[in-house]
Amino acid sequence: MDINWPLMENNITKDDLDVLIDFLKGMPVLTQSGNVSAYEEEWSSWLGVRYSVFVNSGSSANFITMAVLQELVGPGEVIVPPLAWVSDIASVLHAGFTPVFVDINPRTLSMDNDQVISKINPRTKAVFLTHVQGFNGLSDRLLHFLKEKNIPFIEDVCEAHGATFKGTKLGTFGLISNFSYYFAHHMSTVEGGMICTNDETVYQKCRMWRSHGMAREMTNPAMKQKIVEENPDLNPDFIFSSPGFNMRNTEIGAVIGRNQLKRLDRNNEKRRRNFELFLKNLDPSKYRTDFALEGSCNYAFNLILKNADRELCNRVMEALRESRVEFRRGSAGGGNQLRQPYLKGIIPKKEYEKYPQVEHIHFYGFYIGNYPDLPEEKTLALCRILNSL
Ligand SMILES: Cc1ncc(COP(=O)(O)O)c(C=O)c1O
Repeated sequence: MDINWPLMENNITKDDLDVLIDFLKGMPVLTQSGNVSAYEEEWSSWLGVRYSVFVNSGSSANFITMAVLQELVGPGEVIVPPLAWVSDIASVLHAGFTPVFVDINPRTLSMDNDQVISKINPRTKAVFLTHVQGFNGLSDRLLHFLKEKNIPFIEDVCEAHGATFKGTKLGTFGLISNFSYYFAHHMSTVEGGMICTNDETVYQKCRMWRSHGMAREMTNPAMKQKIVEENPDLNPDFIFSSPGFNMRNTEIGAVIGRNQLKRLDRNNEKRRRNFELFLKNLDPSKYRTDFALEGSCNYAFNLILKNADRELCNRVMEALRESRVEFRRGSAGGGNQLRQPYLKGIIPKKEYEKYPQVEHIHFYGFYIGNYPDLPEEKTLALCRILNSL
């Protein structure tokens, strides 16, 4: 049966493009300007944080976050999951931290909170948790522990816009949180990302790191003045106070983002209903359906085999291809990062074997697109096919 179901559809709409075209007709400034600031303010108020910094990708958000954290806390260990995106670990390495890995909780796909706590030691500089595939990865126990030990907590919310823990949006619990607006996510600015925080120093530093490390990017006059006075031999417009990047976004991205944000909550509600329908109709003897759904908001259907059954797995992939249902094996990031060549020589050989829950996702976990206007009939047809295998 031909279902014809791409990974993402209609995530940038005709309305977004009409708004963009109207904007362009005014011959506006296209580099970072008023729309970027307005989008940052609107995003902050949607999320419930004081500050946001719009960048050119979720990965850039990760890289700036880790660079700023390093400036604040110095070298040491950062606890990360092996099921995430490459930049969650690459950013830790580039900032000179040592990644320490923790297996996932099969019901949330995020790091097992008890195992995170057990890995914390005097060298731990931060916990960098990814809320995988729209699931909430937090517990009171973890948050209390980190607060008590005064360990910075960083959230990667690139896959979980609008998801909540106890009614409060993910991305408001950590010192810093990161979002992605890549096309396949809950909303899109084509490419794009956001760094969010309530901490003024972090905010000012992120602004500088985004723009070559330049002091003039700071919006706090007293902080800016201090750096100017410390460097009397430099032109105040060209003080590079950190070895920064150029990871700015543009007015074009911001115009699309501002228009998209207006419908994000409405779309997320539809995504929640889609995923519930999928799980309700899936055969629980073959596939996992017992995810922790409270507060979750997924841009994807998680299709995870209950058992490590190679034969069923092959039949699933064949059926998906035959029905033209696009999928990703190993969830969004390609499965177990510890198997990837970029970590060779950095972690011990066969380290990946120590993370059996991530290993299961690597070989027997898939993600399929979940978009707002996905017809119910497609979901039901897919469930019928999967259940018959
Ligand atoms: C958890 C996570 N973090 C970071 C990123 C990177 O975002 P981007 O693709 O915008 O660089 C992604 C993937 O897209 C992701 O899934």
